[in-house]
Amino acid sequence: MPSPQLFTPLRVRNLELKNRIVIAPMCQYSAEDGCMTDWHLIHLGQLALSGAALLTIEASAVTPDGRITYGDVGLYDDATEKAMGRTLDGIRRWSDMPIAIQLGHAGRKASTERPWLGGSQIAPDHTNGWQTVAPSAVAFNPKYVAPTALDEQGMKRIRDAFAEAAVRSARLGIDAVQIHAAHGYLLHQFLSPLSNQRTDAYGGSLENRMRFPLEVFDAVRQAFPSDKAVTVRISATDWVEGGLNIEETVAFCQRLQEKGCDAIHVSSGGLHIEQKIPLSPSYQVPLARAVKAAVTIPVVAVGLITDPVQAEAIVATGDADLIALARTVLYDPRWPWHAAAALGGQVEAAPQYLRCQPSQFKDLFKS
Ligand SMILES: Cc1cc2nc3c(=O)[nH]c(=O)nc-3n(C[C@H](O)[C@H](O)[C@H](O)COP(=O)(O)O)c2cc1C
Repeated sequence: MPSPQLFTPLRVRNLELKNRIVIAPMCQYSAEDGCMTDWHLIHLGQLALSGAALLTIEASAVTPDGRITYGDVGLYDDATEKAMGRTLDGIRRWSDMPIAIQLGHAGRKASTERPWLGGSQIAPDHTNGWQTVAPSAVAFNPKYVAPTALDEQGMKRIRDAFAEAAVRSARLGIDAVQIHAAHGYLLHQFLSPLSNQRTDAYGGSLENRMRFPLEVFDAVRQAFPSDKAVTVRISATDWVEGGLNIEETVAFCQRLQEKGCDAIHVSSGGLHIEQKIPLSPSYQVPLARAVKAAVTIPVVAVGLITDPVQAEAIVATGDADLIALARTVLYDPRWPWHAAAALGGQVEAAPQYLRCQPSQFKDLFKS
């Protein structure tokens, strides 16, 4: 059997990835006032022992009003930085897995209840709610309070907050930053004509709609150490007629590459309630393939990748350079071990766990 591509290394700027498996960012809605709690140490700690190449910290808000829920992690002041530092110290003591952070702002999709409590929007005059902001005063959902359209000062505040969060990330020794421009959150709201109805230099043509996300990219790239990677997560299509489409996304990715973006993580949807997503295994891989055909930087595929053979095929055929896992690795936090066993690859395991290898004890069960 040829050696699996899924377990070959890849370098992204100075980031040495030992294999092609990335843990996708996953909000846990378990922070207090933006501060990570013991939950994050448990959750991220177990994933840091999974054998994947890179652990991505969940969407971390660059301002308090950029949190999706009041339980979101933030990285916007000394208290949130200190709490994240405590979590990272705990993880790093026992794992050398590189750690990336997703920095984001939820825009008009902020101020909601935790998903397991229904996820509905919390009005600004209710406990745990606040007034949201967006490119235009267009609500995500008829049940939502309309966001306030950002003026230039408001945009500057958020752009600076992204840069400040990148500085905090660097101070915490985080290995890479991923800018969240997907899933209908603020930067995606600027990109999509359905949510961006501005008539100034930040709305209208694709060039104008890309302007703010590209400015945020530049600000983060400048604020984060030049030897460390800055990547972007995108929604390649809104899955709605008249929304952001793959052709526009490809143009955006090419601009990001010109500006020094180190990798593109290709997701989709999340912007509009009328989206029609053709859910099936690997359903976003064709979008990753289209982006990959247009750029030379690494591309990450994600979405219903659950099976080692499926993951290997995505990397081996060159549809994407890396695969990311979310629900799959929550369900089976040792998925990379099991994929390595199935495909004949190797991953690192903590010495404390080495005695669990079936090859070391399975003979005991032979009669
Ligand atoms: C619990 C949970 C939390 C998530 N939080 C984030 C997040 O913080 N940022 C993000 O970009 N995507 C987030 N996602 C989306 C995942 O990163 C991923 O793109 C999506 O679940 C598809 O991958 P999967 O089929 O492997 O789950 C989340 C998904 C889940 C299940």
